[in-house]
Amino acid sequence: MNSIVIAIDGPAASGKGTVSKAISEKLKFHYLDTGKLYRVIGAKYLEGHEPISVAKNLKTDDLDNYDLQKPDIAKAASEIAAIPEVRASLLKFQQNFSRKMPGAVLDGRDIGTIVCPDAKIKIFLTASLEARAYRRYLELQKTDKELKLETIIDQIKERDERDKTRSSSPLIAASDAKVFDTSNLSIKEAIDHVLYYIQTKI
Ligand code: DC
Repeated sequence: MNSIVIAIDGPAASGKGTVSKAISEKLKFHYLDTGKLYRVIGAKYLEGHEPISVAKNLKTDDLDNYDLQKPDIAKAASEIAAIPEVRASLLKFQQNFSRKMPGAVLDGRDIGTIVCPDAKIKIFLTASLEARAYRRYLELQKTDKELKLETIIDQIKERDERDKTRSSSPLIAASDAKVFDTSNLSIKEAIDHVLYYIQTKI
């Protein structure tokens, strides 16, 4: 028997992390935030390490050693994510994770298109730039009161652009993904909509 794979992709701050985690808990499936893999490599890159060799030697322990939410780490993650050798090194790890029984939820940018093209359920979560930036602003305000909304809008816009236009596995909805726009939904509503859709498929 194969595991049930739920692929959840979308741009920065679209709510995919919160939704994916809630769904994995509800269904008792394993959960992998694949952005974390790229963020750890980004963090090590900022410390002067060579991203391709870090990606080749990545250990799961590394994932808990950094404050991965910092904007400079997000930017570095998006930069190193454009390197094909980095992506190739992470592919096997993600695919092995997706085989965990009884099922796995993976969120990222290319799960439905490249990592798990045969996933039973594919979801693409999106929201307007302003809605996404405001969510990230509220989150980051807890630790950095000086941060301006305009700065976050610019950072997310730049990251979206890089993630969508890179030649290796760009951010794009799989042709068979169900698209949800969460701009006007609360977190609870977004989770409920996605969960309802998943329940109709399994
Ligand atoms: O989801 P996130 O914001 O934590 O991701 C950080 C960066 O990592 C994102 O800007 C692009 C990259 N990423 C990717 O290229 N592919 C993935 N599957 C996940 C993240």
